[in-house]
Amino acid sequence: MDKYVLKINGTDRHVTASADESLLSVLRDRLDLTGTKYGCGEGECAACTVLLDGKPIHSCITPVSAAANKNVTTIEGLEKNGTLSPVQQAFVEEGAFQCGYCTSGMVLRATAFLRETPHPTEDQIVAYMDGNICRCGVYPRIIAAVQRASQSPAKAGGQ
Ligand code: FES
Ligand code: FES
Repeated sequence: MDKYVLKINGTDRHVTASADESLLSVLRDRLDLTGTKYGCGEGECAACTVLLDGKPIHSCITPVSAAANKNVTTIEGLEKNGTLSPVQQAFVEEGAFQCGYCTSGMVLRATAFLRETPHPTEDQIVAYMDGNICRCGVYPRIIAAVQRASQSPAKAGGQ
């Protein structure tokens, strides 16, 4: 077991874990951040998406050692002082979920996308979100939510 410092949602968190333990396992089982979901566990579904230094990654196949001293953003870190992020708000307004299992991964991937591409076309949204699987098939509403978030006046200052 080794000791790591993870900068999670702006706060240093100290954990003791094996170097090859997944970031997902550390988040959920050691830090009780259960908003990040376990889907396939094999890097195929993206339910476990978090941002590592702003980039979306599959936390199920990312060892905790790769996240040491880096900024990790989870779904718990998007809301600020009781206000949902523009992407979260747009998902609510579009009803872009059914069971909700894919939602935190979708929201985080969309957040990273809109930081890079603030005014995307529908085709760009579809292409970027392609690897995130929704077993409930609410893709049209997810696309609509990303479009809505891209038009949000609250977008300035970060998604
Ligand atoms: S749980 Fe990580 S990609 Fe499916
Ligand atoms: S809302 Fe159920 S998997 Fe996407």
